Amino acid sequence: MMKTIGVLTSGGDAPGMNAAIRAVVRAGCELGMKVYGIRRGYNGLMENDMYEMNLRSVSDIINRGGTILYSARSDRFKTDEGMQAAIRVCRERGIDGLVVIGGDGSFRGARDLSLKGIPCVALPGTIDNDIGCCDATIGYDTAMETIMEMVDRIRDTTESHDRCAVVEVMGRGAGYLALNAGIACGATSILIPEVPYDFERDVIQRMMRTQRSGKVHFVIMVSEAIGGVAEMAKRIQKETGVESRATVLGHVQRGGSPTARDRILASRMGYHAVQLLKDGIGNRVVAIKKEEIVDYDIVEALAMENSIDLDMYKMAMEISI
Ligand code: F6P
Repeated sequence: MMKTIGVLTSGGDAPGMNAAIRAVVRAGCELGMKVYGIRRGYNGLMENDMYEMNLRSVSDIINRGGTILYSARSDRFKTDEGMQAAIRVCRERGIDGLVVIGGDGSFRGARDLSLKGIPCVALPGTIDNDIGCCDATIGYDTAMETIMEMVDRIRDTTESHDRCAVVEVMGRGAGYLALNAGIACGATSILIPEVPYDFERDVIQRMMRTQRSGKVHFVIMVSEAIGGVAEMAKRIQKETGVESRATVLGHVQRGGSPTARDRILASRMGYHAVQLLKDGIGNRVVAIKKEEIVDYDIVEALAMENSIDLDMYKMAMEISI
């Protein structure tokens, strides 16, 4: 059985990371493990920046956004020198295994460390929901709620002024946030990288069609992978005559208190990760599939395709008109 484990958060932070840290620390302590909290992701591992956590180190964090361990993206860790430094620190500290909470970039680091003899269990923590093996990532549900609340506010003023709001949401290269926020906010058009679009047909003509049925205010949801919302707003105004404004929601989407769903998901995943490490099992990604917590080999998980549900897109287009 592993005696000492470390936990770190890496990449863009996500609401619910704290709940996952809490679960890891509490489950580890209950098993009599020593648990190190590693600061600023892989940077803290290479620089030996960590502290021993106990049951009370994680009090009052389940409700907090961000990550008490801080987060970072590390170029050094991708080098051989960085990897060797991380392994050296693990050996010096007697760290038998690690829980890595982050996105797919962080998973690659966990895979490499596992292959070099430090067993890692990775938890999907990202608002983007772009992890192929997993139905929902930690932080996605909260980001969806935040976007919905923000766009509802934008909608109020859009309605008062008979305007069109062109809203850009995060998601990196994936359109999950934009598609589902578009559905939840009743967007007239949704532009995501997974579905090729023709601006004239899919935005301008759709707006004009809805205008003919009496609609006077609009929301157009755009994934950041498409971008260009300011230009889009100008073009819409010119071609439809509807006064238009662009909003880039930005990092507001990544903060805030996690939803119940994210807190529970993070707690289940953190607990599961420790049960794997307890049995000496590493090189795994913890995921949720059809409401069940499962785990996969990291290499296999990284190879799994991320696919948008095109039926959802089709449905959105049929009912938001
Ligand atoms: O991966 C999470 C995410 O918020 C993406 O949606 C976005 O593209 C990126 O991180 C932004 O990163 P940064 O905080 O470094 O600007």
